[in-house]
Amino acid sequence: RRYRKTIIAGNWKMNKTLSETRAFAEEIKDMLGRPKWCEVVLCVPYVNIPAAVRLFKESRIAIGAENCHYESHGAYTGEVSAEMLKELGVKYVIIGHSERRQYYNETDFTVNKKVHAALEAGLHPIVCVGESLEQRELGVTMELIAYQVKAALAGVPADKMRHVVIAYEPIWAIGTGKTATAEQAAEVCESIRVVIRKLYGARVARAVTIQYGGSMNAKNAAELLAQPDIDGGLIGGASLKPADFTSIVNDAN
Ligand code: G3P
Repeated sequence: RRYRKTIIAGNWKMNKTLSETRAFAEEIKDMLGRPKWCEVVLCVPYVNIPAAVRLFKESRIAIGAENCHYESHGAYTGEVSAEMLKELGVKYVIIGHSERRQYYNETDFTVNKKVHAALEAGLHPIVCVGESLEQRELGVTMELIAYQVKAALAGVPADKMRHVVIAYEPIWAIGTGKTATAEQAAEVCESIRVVIRKLYGARVARAVTIQYGGSMNAKNAAELLAQPDIDGGLIGGASLKPADFTSIVNDAN
C-alpha cells in the first residue's frame, strides 16, 4: 500500500447548484481533519469549478471535473477541453464514466483519446471501467475489464502512468444501493493490476491507484478500503453529504 496513493474522490454528477456547493464547502470545512496520506478529491459540474477551486483552496480537497473533450480547442459546440480545466486549477478528470458511455456514446476509442488529452494538459485522468449485470452473468467480467483497461491506456507511455488512476465501477452497483462484495471488488481490482503489470511491468503496477466505485457509503467503505488492491473510492451519492463523505475519508486514512 505504501507504494501508492489512496484517493477518495466524490463524483457529484449533475448535482448541486452554486449555492449548494457553497453550503457544502461551509459544512465540510470543519469536519475534514489535517491532510494525511490519503488524497481527497471532489469532481463537480463544470459551472461550479471556479467557485469550488476557490472555496476549497485552503482545504485538503482537490477539485476534479467529470468529463472533458479530447481536443484542446476547436469547433465543438458546448464542449470543454482539458486545457481549459487545467487553467482553472482542476487537478483530476473522470474519463469514461459508465453514464457517459451509456448516454453520450462514449466508446473505448474516445475514452483513450480523452486520456491522452487529459495527460497532455497535465491533469490526472480517473479512468472508469466496469461490467453490466448481463456481462457479469455471462462470466466475461475479467476479459471485458482487461479489454477496457488496455483500450483506455493504448499509447500511454509508462512514465505517464503515475498520473493515471483507474476506477472499477460495476454498472449494476452504481446508484442502486447494491454494492459489490468486498471479495468481488477486490478480485476485479487485483485483475486490473495484473493487466497493468503485463502492460508496464511490476513497478508501474505497484504504484497505480485503483479505486472501487458503486454505492460506496459510510457503512461499507471500511471493508472495501481494507482490501489490498482497492486504493480508494469513487463515490457518487454519498459524496453529496458532508458527514458521509468525511466518514469515508476517515476510513481511508
Ligand atoms: O462515479 C461514482 C459512481 O458512479 C457511484 O455512484 O451513487 O453508486 O456511489 P454511487
